[in-house]
Amino acid sequence: MPKITLLNDGSTYEFKPEEVPYGGHGKPLSLLDLAEHFGFHIEHACGGSCACTTCHVIIKSGDDNLSEMEDDEQDKLDLAPGLTLHSRLGCQCVVTGDVEFEIPSWNRNYVSEGGGSINLGDAIPLPKK
Ligand code: FES
Repeated sequence: MPKITLLNDGSTYEFKPEEVPYGGHGKPLSLLDLAEHFGFHIEHACGGSCACTTCHVIIKSGDDNLSEMEDDEQDKLDLAPGLTLHSRLGCQCVVTGDVEFEIPSWNRNYVSEGGGSINLGDAIPLPKK
């Protein structure tokens, strides 16, 4: 049974792929869709359509247990802040085995401090000079 581990808080979620209903968040069985299913948050300003970079995650182990990166994901990732060799878009990478990952701290802190999604236009505007 595959499992995903969110290293930010050490939580692990085991699942049977055939028993996880598609929640409509990115690709079926993507890290984003699994996050929504299990109730932890990955920012996803574009709703999982590979049109932003807010679902950026860093894979710490199990790269081979994710679907191959397609060109549109690669193109978007090139624009992601804090890009690493193990970066993926949570909405595009489909989990096929055990994966350990983390949500980059700049993204996590921003969301936990009540920040909005810049891409949705609900972020607090900067003060005018
Ligand atoms: S949620 Fe926008 S690219 Fe993944």
